Amino acid sequence: MKTAVRYYSKLGNTKRIAEAIAEGAGVKAVSVTEEPDLAEYVDVLFLGGAPYANIMAPELRAYAEKLSADQVGRAILFTTSNWSRRTVRALKKELRAKGIPVDEKYFYAHMTRIKARTDAAKDFTRKMLE
Ligand SMILES: Cc1cc2nc3c(=O)[nH]c(=O)nc-3n(C[C@H](O)[C@H](O)[C@H](O)COP(=O)(O)O)c2cc1C
Repeated sequence: MKTAVRYYSKLGNTKRIAEAIAEGAGVKAVSVTEEPDLAEYVDVLFLGGAPYANIMAPELRAYAEKLSADQVGRAILFTTSNWSRRTVRALKKELRAKGIPVDEKYFYAHMTRIKARTDAAKDFTRKMLE
Protein backbone atom coordinates (compact mmCIF):
# COMPACT_ATOMS: atom_id res chain seq x y z
CA MET A 1 0.00 0.00 0.00
CA LYS A 2 1.42 3.36 -1.04
CA THR A 3 1.06 6.18 1.49
CA ALA A 4 2.02 9.84 1.24
CA VAL A 5 2.00 12.73 3.72
CA ARG A 6 1.59 16.26 2.38
CA TYR A 7 1.12 19.46 4.36
CA TYR A 8 1.36 23.20 4.39
CA SER A 9 2.86 24.88 7.46
CA LYS A 10 3.70 28.53 7.90
CA LEU A 11 4.98 28.45 11.48
CA GLY A 12 6.05 24.82 11.92
CA ASN A 13 3.22 23.32 14.01
CA THR A 14 1.54 21.39 11.22
CA LYS A 15 4.97 20.36 9.95
CA ARG A 16 5.75 18.72 13.28
CA ILE A 17 2.45 16.84 13.26
CA ALA A 18 2.99 15.87 9.61
CA GLU A 19 6.39 14.46 10.55
CA ALA A 20 4.86 12.40 13.36
CA ILE A 21 2.20 11.09 10.96
CA ALA A 22 4.90 10.31 8.41
CA GLU A 23 6.87 8.42 11.07
CA GLY A 24 3.74 6.41 11.89
CA ALA A 25 3.28 5.63 8.21
CA GLY A 26 6.97 4.94 7.54
CA VAL A 27 7.25 7.63 4.86
CA LYS A 28 8.58 11.18 4.55
CA ALA A 29 6.43 14.27 5.15
CA VAL A 30 6.62 16.63 2.20
CA SER A 31 5.47 20.22 2.07
CA VAL A 32 3.15 21.21 -0.77
CA THR A 33 5.53 24.10 -1.42
CA GLU A 34 8.41 21.65 -1.88
CA GLU A 35 6.45 19.38 -4.24
CA PRO A 36 3.46 21.20 -5.68
CA ASP A 37 2.18 18.07 -7.46
CA LEU A 38 1.56 14.51 -6.36
CA ALA A 39 3.84 12.63 -8.73
CA GLU A 40 2.30 9.16 -8.50
CA TYR A 41 -0.85 7.37 -7.37
CA VAL A 42 -1.19 6.83 -3.63
CA ASP A 43 -3.63 4.55 -1.85
CA VAL A 44 -3.70 6.84 1.19
CA LEU A 45 -2.91 10.54 1.29
CA PHE A 46 -2.56 12.26 4.65
CA LEU A 47 -3.15 15.94 3.96
CA GLY A 48 -3.02 18.75 6.49
CA GLY A 49 -2.80 22.44 7.17
CA ALA A 50 -3.93 25.20 9.48
CA PRO A 51 -6.25 28.21 9.32
CA TYR A 52 -4.84 31.72 9.10
CA ALA A 53 -7.48 34.38 9.75
CA ASN A 54 -10.09 31.69 9.28
CA ILE A 55 -8.97 30.35 5.92
CA MET A 56 -6.46 27.76 4.81
CA ALA A 57 -3.29 28.91 3.08
CA PRO A 58 -3.73 29.51 -0.67
CA GLU A 59 -0.84 27.07 -1.28
CA LEU A 60 -2.81 24.26 0.37
CA ARG A 61 -6.05 25.17 -1.37
CA ALA A 62 -4.25 25.18 -4.72
CA TYR A 63 -2.80 21.76 -3.96
CA ALA A 64 -6.21 20.31 -3.04
CA GLU A 65 -7.79 21.84 -6.13
CA LYS A 66 -5.24 20.12 -8.36
CA LEU A 67 -5.75 16.62 -6.91
CA SER A 68 -7.90 14.18 -8.82
CA ALA A 69 -9.69 10.96 -7.92
CA ASP A 70 -7.31 8.92 -10.09
CA GLN A 71 -4.34 10.07 -7.97
CA VAL A 72 -5.69 9.25 -4.51
CA GLY A 73 -7.47 6.16 -3.18
CA ARG A 74 -8.44 7.71 0.12
CA ALA A 75 -7.56 10.92 2.00
CA ILE A 76 -7.07 11.35 5.74
CA LEU A 77 -6.88 14.92 7.03
CA PHE A 78 -5.09 16.64 9.88
CA THR A 79 -4.98 20.16 11.20
CA THR A 80 -3.51 22.35 13.92
CA SER A 81 -5.06 25.62 15.08
CA ASN A 82 -6.07 27.76 17.99
CA TRP A 83 -9.68 26.58 17.87
CA SER A 84 -10.87 26.15 14.31
CA ARG A 85 -11.47 22.89 12.41
CA ARG A 86 -12.31 24.84 9.32
CA THR A 87 -9.34 23.62 7.29
CA VAL A 88 -10.56 20.04 7.66
CA ARG A 89 -14.10 20.97 6.68
CA ALA A 90 -12.95 22.92 3.63
CA LEU A 91 -10.52 20.21 2.47
CA LYS A 92 -13.14 17.52 2.97
CA LYS A 93 -15.63 19.42 0.85
CA GLU A 94 -13.08 20.10 -1.91
CA LEU A 95 -11.81 16.51 -2.12
CA ARG A 96 -15.20 14.83 -1.86
CA ALA A 97 -16.53 17.04 -4.65
CA LYS A 98 -13.85 15.47 -6.85
CA GLY A 99 -14.84 11.96 -5.85
CA ILE A 100 -11.88 11.41 -3.51
CA PRO A 101 -13.07 9.47 -0.44
CA VAL A 102 -12.19 11.31 2.79
CA ASP A 103 -12.28 9.61 6.17
CA GLU A 104 -14.60 11.16 8.75
CA LYS A 105 -11.81 10.70 11.30
CA TYR A 106 -9.09 13.32 11.23
CA PHE A 107 -6.24 14.32 13.52
CA TYR A 108 -6.35 17.57 15.46
CA ALA A 109 -3.64 19.19 17.58
CA HIS A 110 -4.08 22.48 19.38
CA MET A 111 -1.26 24.91 18.57
CA THR A 112 -0.07 24.92 22.20
CA ARG A 113 0.05 21.11 22.43
CA ILE A 114 2.03 20.11 19.37
CA LYS A 115 4.85 18.33 21.17
CA ALA A 116 2.40 16.62 23.53
CA ARG A 117 0.36 15.31 20.58
CA THR A 118 3.10 13.80 18.43
CA ASP A 119 2.77 10.30 19.92
CA ALA A 120 -1.00 10.49 19.48
CA ALA A 121 -0.45 11.47 15.83
CA LYS A 122 1.73 8.39 15.31
CA ASP A 123 -0.84 6.12 16.98
CA PHE A 124 -3.67 7.67 14.96
CA THR A 125 -1.77 6.98 11.75
CA ARG A 126 -1.00 3.38 12.58
CA LYS A 127 -4.66 2.73 13.47
CA MET A 128 -5.91 4.40 10.31
CA LEU A 129 -3.60 2.23 8.21
CA GLU A 130 -4.49 -1.07 9.89
C1 LIG B 1 -1.86 35.17 11.14
C2 LIG B 1 -2.50 34.02 11.89
C3 LIG B 1 -3.87 33.83 11.84
C4 LIG B 1 -4.47 32.76 12.54
N1 LIG B 1 -5.82 32.59 12.46
C5 LIG B 1 -6.41 31.55 13.10
C6 LIG B 1 -7.81 31.33 12.99
O1 LIG B 1 -8.53 32.04 12.31
N2 LIG B 1 -8.33 30.29 13.68
C7 LIG B 1 -7.57 29.45 14.47
O2 LIG B 1 -8.11 28.54 15.07
N3 LIG B 1 -6.22 29.62 14.55
C8 LIG B 1 -5.63 30.64 13.89
N4 LIG B 1 -4.27 30.82 13.96
C9 LIG B 1 -3.47 29.84 14.67
C10 LIG B 1 -2.81 28.86 13.68
O3 LIG B 1 -3.79 28.19 12.90
C11 LIG B 1 -2.00 27.85 14.48
O4 LIG B 1 -0.94 28.52 15.13
C12 LIG B 1 -1.45 26.73 13.62
O5 LIG B 1 -0.94 25.71 14.45
C13 LIG B 1 -0.39 27.25 12.68
O6 LIG B 1 0.08 26.18 11.92
P1 LIG B 1 1.55 26.20 11.32
O7 LIG B 1 2.50 26.34 12.47
O8 LIG B 1 1.66 24.86 10.67
O9 LIG B 1 1.63 27.32 10.35
C14 LIG B 1 -3.67 31.88 13.31
C15 LIG B 1 -2.27 32.09 13.35
C16 LIG B 1 -1.70 33.13 12.66
C17 LIG B 1 -0.22 33.33 12.72
